[in-house]
Amino acid sequence: MRKNTQTAARQISTKHIVLVGLMGSGKTTVGRELGRIMKCSILDMDALIEEQIGKSIPDIFREDGEAHFRSLETAFLRYLIDDCPEAYGGCVISTGGGVIGSEENRMLLRQLGFVVWLDVDINTLVKRTARSNNRPLLNDASPRETLRKLLSLRAPLYNKVSHYRINTDRLEVAEVVGHVREAAALYFAD
Ligand code: S3P
Repeated sequence: MRKNTQTAARQISTKHIVLVGLMGSGKTTVGRELGRIMKCSILDMDALIEEQIGKSIPDIFREDGEAHFRSLETAFLRYLIDDCPEAYGGCVISTGGGVIGSEENRMLLRQLGFVVWLDVDINTLVKRTARSNNRPLLNDASPRETLRKLLSLRAPLYNKVSHYRINTDRLEVAEVVGHVREAAALYFAD
């Protein structure tokens, strides 16, 4: 991971809003709108990992394996906390759906700030993820079954790591953003 030793001593903000949730839960869309409304930077972990490594996520999975990708996620969370010049001030951070898998990552996510679980039901997830083919975990015969399994495996972890859970199925993006902003304001006011 890229290091920036000159900025390591600066004070790091942990007042970020961190979006977690399964693939297709709307982290990127909600993150963009939150960042626009709140006039703050948006850090998309998957996109930044791809940029730093110089490979797409499907290529990382194919050439280096999922375990390697998971280690990149952990290194990236550490980089955001310790050393990332873009992460000064409050940002919105969109994560990859599997980032909550390890205890270490869950601890780092909470260290970064206010963790929001965008919870969506399975039909919405299937519909949304069908539109793209850049998710290696869903390149199988039954994406619905895979998503169902991942949801039951990960829901307790999203629950554990998040400060706030919002079911977005019946909400417009602007409504989700409004609720998240209110909840974050209360959290940071404490
Ligand atoms: C993954 C989710 C993806 C990406 C990778 C693995 C997962 O991100 O990090 O394909 O394990 O759920 P999105 O949740 O943004 O699709």
